[in-house]
Amino acid sequence: MQVKNIQHNKFPNIQYRVVGDGDALVLLHGFPETGELWKEVWGDLSKNFRVIIPDLPGSGGSSRCTVPLTMELIAESVKLVLDAEHIDNVVMTGHSMGGYAALAFVEMYLGMVKGLAMVHSMANADTEEKKETRRKSIALIQNGGKEPFIRQMIPALFSEWYKKNHADELKARIDKALLQNADSLCDFYNAMINRPDRVGLLTGAAFPVQWIIGKEDTIAPADKVLQQTTLANVNFVEVYADCAHMGMIEQPKKLIDDLAGFVQYCYSN
Ligand code: MLT
Repeated sequence: MQVKNIQHNKFPNIQYRVVGDGDALVLLHGFPETGELWKEVWGDLSKNFRVIIPDLPGSGGSSRCTVPLTMELIAESVKLVLDAEHIDNVVMTGHSMGGYAALAFVEMYLGMVKGLAMVHSMANADTEEKKETRRKSIALIQNGGKEPFIRQMIPALFSEWYKKNHADELKARIDKALLQNADSLCDFYNAMINRPDRVGLLTGAAFPVQWIIGKEDTIAPADKVLQQTTLANVNFVEVYADCAHMGMIEQPKKLIDDLAGFVQYCYSN
């Protein structure tokens, strides 16, 4: 694996990892994560594909954007990475917030897109209620409440089974999330609040779309995501039992198989 850095006026530093050879597969992490989120799946996927894993602006080794963050700016940062790697065709994979950014990428650079994998993610915008909850979280974080925010939010991402059987890993994930910069957390929340609805982008879409759904997910709930799984012309739909919002940690082997099958399909059609 190589870890690389590029600079651009809006993005003082973008860090990303590249591993493997072959057709390109981009993995975009969600909130409040870094590219490390994909650690349990990138090795196996790199046996067949060239896997690109950026840290989104303001997370991990990537610095905050110099202008207010949006999903479109995240997509732009990913395009800069792909340009640096001379990649013209991609399967974009986004976990949750990474899926919102992947959708922006698809809208902006459609000609590059061979397929889109939405991992515990949805194409609609936030409801007013959700926006209000996020604004309250931003106020809490800005008032020094990053720690209680993280301690409450991370366990809510996992299934009951995982929490019962992996208490140490859960604690480690909380400790890791606590390293996130408070301003960056607010940047991401504002970008999510301001993102447009992109259901229309998927309606009748010619590129294949994969949906990875956790039965116990409360953030991208199965009943809501399932409503979007017939929008595109070709949909791959997987519903995981004993899984909430974190398939790459809760069910990594299954996710590797499902993603690999999807990416193969995208490049052979
Ligand atoms: C994520 O996992 O990226 C976030 O929970 C997404 C969200 O809050 O909508």
